[in-house]
Amino acid sequence: MKILEAKNIVAGYHKSEILHGVSIHLEHKEVVTIIGPNGAGKSTLLKALMGYINIFDGKVIWKGEDITHLKPYQKVKKGFGYVPQLGNVFPSLSVLENLQMGGFTQGKDTIKERMGRVFELFPILKQKLSAKAGTLSGGQRQMLGMARALMTDPELLLLDEPSAGLSPKASEEVFMTIADMHGRLEKSIIIIEQDAYQSLSISDRCYVLVMGKNEFEDEAQNILSNPKIKEAYLGG
Ligand SMILES: Nc1ncnc2c1ncn2[C@@H]1O[C@H](COP(=O)(O)OP(=O)(O)O)[C@@H](O)[C@H]1O
Ligand SMILES: [Mg+2]
Repeated sequence: MKILEAKNIVAGYHKSEILHGVSIHLEHKEVVTIIGPNGAGKSTLLKALMGYINIFDGKVIWKGEDITHLKPYQKVKKGFGYVPQLGNVFPSLSVLENLQMGGFTQGKDTIKERMGRVFELFPILKQKLSAKAGTLSGGQRQMLGMARALMTDPELLLLDEPSAGLSPKASEEVFMTIADMHGRLEKSIIIIEQDAYQSLSISDRCYVLVMGKNEFEDEAQNILSNPKIKEAYLGG
C-alpha cells in the first residue's frame, strides 16, 4: 500500500523554482533513500513535503488524502516526523528538555511512555539525560534529533543527511539505529544522503535527483550490485 505519493512537485523559494516536477512514493513500512549531487534539491524536497516551503504545483497524497498545502504542524498530526540536517536539537537545552520539547503537544503520561521507548532505542541518551545537547558528540546529537522526532510517534520519518559530518563509526551507529526504527518501531522512512552506501544497504529503493528532477530510480540492491549504475550514481 502506498502511504505517500508526491506527484510532479514544483517548489522552491520565493520566485526561484528548485524542484521542476519531482515524483516519489513510499510504500507502507518502506525505507527509501534519495541521493543526488549537492544542490540537486533533496533538502528542498523534504521541506516541501513537510510544508516548510510552498508547493507551486503538483500534489502530496498521504493515504489517499490530498495534503499538499497543509502546514508543518498539521503534517506532524498526520504522522510526519522530520529531522533536518542542521538545527535538529536545541544545543543549550538538556537531552531531557529536548525530548520534552519534541513531545510538547502530547500529554504528560504519553511523554513518559514515549521517552521509555526512545531510551530502549537510544540507551546512551538515558545516560546523558541532564547533559546539554551542545556537549554531545555528533553521533549522539543526531540520535537525539531522531529521538526528538519519535516523541510524536510519527508513522513516517524524513531524515535529511543523518550521517553528515560524522565519523565512519558514528555514522554506522546512526544507520543501525535507523534500521532499528524501521525494524522494531515499524516506521516508514525517507533518507537523504550524499554518501549513500550505508543508507542503501538498509533501504528498499532509491531515487536519484539531479537539478530538481528525477534522474533514475531502482531497488537499492540493484544499485549496489550493478557496477555500471554504481559508478554512475555513487562515483564507483
Ligand atoms: N533558503 C533558501 N533560499 C533560496 N534558495 C535556497 C534555499 N535553500 C536552498 N536553496 C537553493 O536550492 C537549491 C537546492 O538546494 P538543496 O535542496 O539544499 O539541495 P541538496 O539538499 O540536494 O544539496 C540550491 O541551488 C540552493 O542554493
Ligand atoms: Mg541537502
